[in-house]
Amino acid sequence: MAGAGYRPDARRRQVLQFCDMKVSITINGSVHSHDVEPRTLLVHYIREHAHLTGTNIGCDTSSCGACTVHLDGEAVKSCTILAAQADGGSVTTIEGLSKNGEMHPMQKAFMDNHGLQCGFCTPGMVMAAIGLLNENPAPTEDDVRLGLEGNLCRCTGYHNIVKSVLAAAQK
Ligand code: FES
Ligand code: FES
Repeated sequence: MAGAGYRPDARRRQVLQFCDMKVSITINGSVHSHDVEPRTLLVHYIREHAHLTGTNIGCDTSSCGACTVHLDGEAVKSCTILAAQADGGSVTTIEGLSKNGEMHPMQKAFMDNHGLQCGFCTPGMVMAAIGLLNENPAPTEDDVRLGLEGNLCRCTGYHNIVKSVLAAAQK
């Protein structure tokens, strides 16, 4: 039985601290090391620990794709991966795409072809689109529609998004 000095909150804190684990992830070329709970999702690590808020959270069902980033060169939904699973890995987010102040060709294609309206889905859409072209550099319109089916947009009707990706493929 717990004695008079037993403090459940302190005990809980101790247990949680004990459970924290060190995770190191290179994000956009910089190493970020933090102690996190094992259940921390990669998207929360990126937003709350690395303070990179370009990667959005649009659902809690792994269905919208707003959280898409590249992990070791592959497009992934960062809400479906634990930060611990990315330990030692290399992540690129939308903030890491531009080089020397120049937008990535995919970002430029979205801008030139009006591939966005409110912009909420756009970071994830751009990261997924780059992943798509990495795998298939010369996609057909159907390939693009199929390849981006895991990314939802509430605004654009998708037409200009597909146009943007096809335009980027031409560059
Ligand atoms: Fe990751 Fe919606 S926030 S799929
Ligand atoms: Fe608004 Fe896609 S541009 S959700």
